[in-house]
Amino acid sequence: MKKEDWEIIYLYETGSTNDVAQQYSHVAGRYLVIRADKQTAGRGRRGRNWQSLVGNLFFSLLLKFELHNLGALAVMSSLSLLEAVKKLDIDADVLLKWPNDVLLNGGKLSGILLEKADGDYMVCGIGVNVEHVPDCKDIIYRTASLKQAGICITAADFLDLYLEIFTNNLNIYDEKGFAPLRQKWLDNAKGVGENIVVRQENGEVNGRFVGLDENANLLLEEDGAIRRILAGDVFIKSDKDDRI
Ligand code: BTN
Repeated sequence: MKKEDWEIIYLYETGSTNDVAQQYSHVAGRYLVIRADKQTAGRGRRGRNWQSLVGNLFFSLLLKFELHNLGALAVMSSLSLLEAVKKLDIDADVLLKWPNDVLLNGGKLSGILLEKADGDYMVCGIGVNVEHVPDCKDIIYRTASLKQAGICITAADFLDLYLEIFTNNLNIYDEKGFAPLRQKWLDNAKGVGENIVVRQENGEVNGRFVGLDENANLLLEEDGAIRRILAGDVFIKSDKDDRI
């Protein structure tokens, strides 16, 4: 497929671009993007709020993707964000953090919220701090913006670049499967081989981050046993930036 195959719907203001994308899932062609300058009810993972100031980028991709391959979509979307930042500044200090965060100079640059839509459609909602660094009590990590890191680009231009890279990764996935994307993700991920804490809804687990399985679940080694982690917030023990 080509970047031009994405149909883009632009809104000045909406509640959440993920909700708008959901509404299109029975009438969409295969690839749709909903972008808004401003969201009044932006949502984050695990019921958190996503502060949505004009100048930052908020969009949702609506595409056909099988629910059991959700992990591949998460990997593809965050990897494409990292590759877009690297394309703008090859020396940028940018890393991936499981499940789907992108860190710039150690702070959270973006967030991704994947939701199931009607039929075979998935919504992949992405927020990128282009100009502003959100100051939000709900966010448990330090935040970062492209502008703060000296990368000057508009939200619309960043989306254009993102769609080019995401489409490229989607083509790799269609032709070669998940393995090459998982490898690229691991090559750029923070904390692989290190001791981590994963905070979950009801408690936390500790162990060494040894990789991702075929569904992009985190593989945690503890006393020689490998455990698959399906959800949670990762904190790296040796990292003073991480608020454990
Ligand atoms: C996270 O908690 O890290 C995920 C944040 C996802 C935010 C984006 S902004 C565009 C889309 N619309 C929403 O309401 N949420 C996602």
